[in-house]
Amino acid sequence: MKKIVLNILFIIVVNTLFQLTASAQTKSISQKVDSVFNLMTLDEKIGQLNQYNDDWTATDLLAIDNDKAIQIQKGQLGSLLNCMGTERTRIWQKIAMQSRLKIPLLFGQDVIHGYKTTFPIPLAEACSWDLEAIELSARIAATEASASGIHWTFAPMVDITRDPRWGRVMEGAGEDPYLASKIAYARVKGFQGDKPGELNSIMACAKHFAGYGAAIGGRDYNSVDMSERLLWEVYLPPFKAAVDAKVSTFMTSFNDINGVPSTGNKYLLRTILKEQWGFNGYVVSDWGAVGEMINHGNVKNESEAAQCAITAGCDMDMESRNYKNNLAQLVNDGKVLIALIDEAVKRILQKKFELGLFDDPFRFCSAEREKRELNNPEHTTAAREMACKSIVLLKNQNQLLPLSKNIKTIAFIGPLVKAVKQNKGFWDVEVPGLDSNYIVSQWAGIQNKVGNKTNLLYAKGCDIEGDNKNGFTEALNIARQADVVILSIGERRDMTGEAKSRSNINIPGVQEDLLKELLTTGKPVVALINAGRPLVFNYTADNAPAILYTWWLGSEAGNAIADVLFGDYNPSAKLVITFPQSVGQLPIYYSHFNTGHPAVSDDNHSYNSSYTDLSIYPKFEFGYGLSYTSFQYSNLKLSKKKMTKDEQIEVSLTITNTGKYNGEEIVQLYIRDLVGSIVRPVKDLKDFNKIPLKIGESKNIRFIIDKEKLSFYNQQLQWIAEPGEFELMIGASSRDIRLQDNFELLE
Ligand code: BGC
Repeated sequence: MKKIVLNILFIIVVNTLFQLTASAQTKSISQKVDSVFNLMTLDEKIGQLNQYNDDWTATDLLAIDNDKAIQIQKGQLGSLLNCMGTERTRIWQKIAMQSRLKIPLLFGQDVIHGYKTTFPIPLAEACSWDLEAIELSARIAATEASASGIHWTFAPMVDITRDPRWGRVMEGAGEDPYLASKIAYARVKGFQGDKPGELNSIMACAKHFAGYGAAIGGRDYNSVDMSERLLWEVYLPPFKAAVDAKVSTFMTSFNDINGVPSTGNKYLLRTILKEQWGFNGYVVSDWGAVGEMINHGNVKNESEAAQCAITAGCDMDMESRNYKNNLAQLVNDGKVLIALIDEAVKRILQKKFELGLFDDPFRFCSAEREKRELNNPEHTTAAREMACKSIVLLKNQNQLLPLSKNIKTIAFIGPLVKAVKQNKGFWDVEVPGLDSNYIVSQWAGIQNKVGNKTNLLYAKGCDIEGDNKNGFTEALNIARQADVVILSIGERRDMTGEAKSRSNINIPGVQEDLLKELLTTGKPVVALINAGRPLVFNYTADNAPAILYTWWLGSEAGNAIADVLFGDYNPSAKLVITFPQSVGQLPIYYSHFNTGHPAVSDDNHSYNSSYTDLSIYPKFEFGYGLSYTSFQYSNLKLSKKKMTKDEQIEVSLTITNTGKYNGEEIVQLYIRDLVGSIVRPVKDLKDFNKIPLKIGESKNIRFIIDKEKLSFYNQQLQWIAEPGEFELMIGASSRDIRLQDNFELLE
């Protein structure tokens, strides 16, 4: 007993000391901020609120834009973007050190899925549902980028996306707010590390605030019109998760939302983000978005744009120069309170202090560390593992996969087989001075795997786009000689990404025609589909016996694809976004409402909520993905059937690996609130567990249901759980529900 009391006392003392030190530290940073801030002129303060682009085209560092250098010397610039490498960042930082107050510059960069080591595109990584691996991917990106002079990434993109026409679907974590919030949290932690200022960490940026993923018609930059309920329930949660993970910065979105451009949206930036959520970092505009408010038709001129954005709570102007050119006049005219400028400056200085830049502005500029980290073999291993975890097995008729490593002849066909850079996907980083040799093509990956014992034949067959079928004959010739055909088709890497919305999301060109021809040979065909978004490929889906959706997998693409094809990795990924049968179904997502005329099958389209000429079902649903093994779900037990709001229900079940391979299953827990004052979706993901199981192994898994999992925003936007009956569904996907039960929430 005495020992316990002593232990408790010890913990209290340690905690108190820890809290005192922490508060002393915070205090000392804010004191440090004040010590610089108090010396600043208005011109220098406004300088901190600007971010410019580096000269992309400058090959000779002496050719630096003179004006920019002079502005930096005068303390008129706070940050640069697209400036990479220890050598180049050092040059700019040295110029900043010539300014009166020597306030260091911040270097920001779109480190979206890796730096030198490219990881799979974020949407692909999300399909792993593996939060540790996702965090590690961001950690490695941060380690490399911070070693190369970068302080800040414009990631993670946490926009919910339900429309694959939108090109930026590739940057997010899919359609579901619960899963996307978990992933947002993991990514922020990964980039930022344990505490600000660690040498191998960079500041993260939750973007694009807010609603960008709901651009009307999936057309990039388009307007967003959305109810408060949808905003709070679906689009805001990943941003809130980023705040909970202590994200350092936020970026506004390009769109207007309900008629107000996000960059001048006081409700979003001040009321929600800074006041309700207590966010203490700073907000940067998206590129030029301050000035774009003129195009939106929300302000008359650049001066009004600057006034509107700073008043709304946008602290830093990326590239529009509207702050630089107008804020001083606005303050002098009394149109912008100096307090607004002061607040923004302090938020930015705070981060510069947290990063330790005032102590040593060159601390992220070690050429030796850069060389070491950019060539760290552990990063390659992690990229390969992440790539394996991101590949989704969509179809595997007659267990065609995995392939034997003793196949005599393989015909490897398609426009993406020998592609190198394509595997990086959109938003890769071109690190200056490094070429892209460090990418394993699909051809090289399979060659590495099968070695000389297999005769590996190649034909391109066709291009990604266009209608030229001249290469079909050669492709058919090699297919006839082979035991198995692997066909690698899909999009070009720059067909998804920013400003890459498409109204037709079919597999482009004659690639599916090539598949049709190849199938006439009677040879088994494995299709690899490379893309940054869900594509429509009904012919392939219905006719190819085996399909792997490989997305864009990054540096280790070829090796990872080979690992999966030949069974060294058993696929475990599941889709985080619904794959439609046709663009006519868009937007389509699993957590829809039931409607008053629910459609229940494709046999009857009469007076129910469906299209008369289209299925009500997606091609592949949210949560779907196969394994080489099979899993049995059994033994669902609820610890009780009724709970009060203060109680919990424990849900337990057994999962058994009933197949012939070791594997991992992503067990998904969905809940439906059967009656709600606001209509509730037919199901909502509320938990999941990714569980490894050896052949024949069984494991029990547990989930906890509490009030939080049953809550939603009512009409007054209060987060509440309403008493009543709930349906619990445990599934291998959102459609493949294996176990079901009901329970009740009491008054
Ligand atoms: C994109 C942002 C990106 C910024 C800087 C903009 O066009 O919307 O996501 O961070 O450019 O490159």
